[in-house]
Amino acid sequence: MSFYRSLVLTLAQNRLVTSFATKYGMKLGASRFVAGETLDKAIQVVQQLNAEGLVVTLDHLGESVAHKNEAIEATNTAIQIFEAIDQSGVQSNVSVKLTQLGLDIDPSFCLENMDRIAAKAKEKNNFVRIDMEDTPRLEATMDIFHKLLDRYGKEHIGLVIQSYLYRSEQDVTELGKKKVNLRIVKGAYKEPATVAFPNKKDVDMNYIRLVQQHLQNGCYTAIATHDEQIIHTLKAWLKANQIPHHLFEFQMLYGVRNGLQRQLVKEGYKVRVYTPFGKDWYPYFSRRIAESPANTMFVLKNLFKS
Ligand code: FDA
Repeated sequence: MSFYRSLVLTLAQNRLVTSFATKYGMKLGASRFVAGETLDKAIQVVQQLNAEGLVVTLDHLGESVAHKNEAIEATNTAIQIFEAIDQSGVQSNVSVKLTQLGLDIDPSFCLENMDRIAAKAKEKNNFVRIDMEDTPRLEATMDIFHKLLDRYGKEHIGLVIQSYLYRSEQDVTELGKKKVNLRIVKGAYKEPATVAFPNKKDVDMNYIRLVQQHLQNGCYTAIATHDEQIIHTLKAWLKANQIPHHLFEFQMLYGVRNGLQRQLVKEGYKVRVYTPFGKDWYPYFSRRIAESPANTMFVLKNLFKS
């Protein structure tokens, strides 16, 4: 982990910094990366993005919960998001994290919650994607995903694969047999070299290989990266191999590389913006700041403006 990234993440855990940031955070720039604190506000943001030709996946912010009532609340919110998407007619699906739905409390309780969400996705003819968290949760996540895939089908539920993991090539092969809809990402957690490539170059090379492998197997692939070099390489490969547009989409985070998102839409590609919202925005915001010194400059500029 770089010195900059660990410094920002350490500061993010400081109580003084946290209370200052949660008080003034939206003003300081969190609203660039988070679509507000309420579902109503998030739907308004989706409407604006849709008007620009972008589709969305909504994420209700929140991570590992320790109490069952919090997990049930998060489950109910995910269900409400599907209702709100349906009522407003916006172009959006939903992304969820299993630790927010009780994975660390009890996997079978988490499966019950996730089952309610997947059933609602199917009822509304929509789609839910399970985000991938760190490796200690990977097997349990796969297990829950496969159970729900059998019940609801690949049109309504999908998963995420991280290119920093050695095992991902094998996972993509296995998931390819069931024609699973996958989002491929590089991976956002701190993992040891026993399970993940320590060098960025290997993560990037594996990223390209996994996207190509899944598309060559005829499976729907969400290419989720802001890496312009990788996007450039893959665009050339997609064209040369005549991969039809209905088999893939690009995905980026809300507020990151806005120009590139819109440029891809102009070029005729489908682009989905991962759009988080909710009161628990601070840990997500800190990670975005840690990823890029340019984002810190953005926050500092807002600080001096206000
Ligand atoms: P990389 O980190 O190499 O960045 C490439 C370039 O993009 C950088 O040079 C920089 O210019 C720009 N960039 C990247 N991040 C930026 C930022 N925050 N602000 C400004 N510029 C930035 N991870 C995971 O483990 N599980 C998951 O389920 C998901 N889900 C997910 C969904 C979507 C839609 C995206 C885009 C990403 C994820 N991720 C994820 C996160 C992912 O694993 C990864 O950490 C980030 O996308 C950063 O990696 P990049 O591929 O963008 O490349």
